[in-house]
Amino acid sequence: MEIVRTIKIKNEQETEKFGLKLAKDLKAGDVLALIGDLGTGKTALTSYIAQGLGISQRVNSPTFTIVKEYHDGRLPLYHFDVYRIIDPEEMFNIGADEYFFGGGVCVIEWADLVEEVLPENTKYIYIEYGKKEGERIYKCTF
Ligand SMILES: Nc1ncnc2c1ncn2[C@@H]1O[C@H](COP(=O)(O)OP(=O)(O)OP(=O)(O)O)[C@@H](O)[C@H]1O
Ligand SMILES: [Mg+2]
Repeated sequence: MEIVRTIKIKNEQETEKFGLKLAKDLKAGDVLALIGDLGTGKTALTSYIAQGLGISQRVNSPTFTIVKEYHDGRLPLYHFDVYRIIDPEEMFNIGADEYFFGGGVCVIEWADLVEEVLPENTKYIYIEYGKKEGERIYKCTF
């Protein structure tokens, strides 16, 4: 996937700013793949995107289910955490296609584990730790 911009995030407030701004640009059918190590802030970024969509519910990791739905924002948000998926085909069993093409926005944590089943229009953000505490590097394909 071709990286078209690299953004240096200095602290969590900048993650918040990035997420709120990104949410404004999202449209129905968008699929956002978040790829990065434990604790790089995939859930944090998702929660700021949710906030930007006007979702008032608190977003946390969908621990017991692979996907959690939020319906009280400008667009429905389908928040996936596929960390526990062993076979990408499991995505079909949970009806992922209905989410991908379901008129909302999908945000997928650990998307590298299911990359082969993601739609062609998927937008990727690769998240890396920066040098200083709180720093993150976002590499985006959009
Ligand atoms: N710039 C930043 N952006 C996001 N989170 C940050 C940043 N700086 C520090 N943090 C902290 O890092 C932690 C990120 O945790 P979070 O659960 O969002 O990571 P994650 O990538 O979803 O982890 P997991 O792989 O377990 O799902 C939070 O405690 C958050 O406060
Ligand atoms: Mg997480």
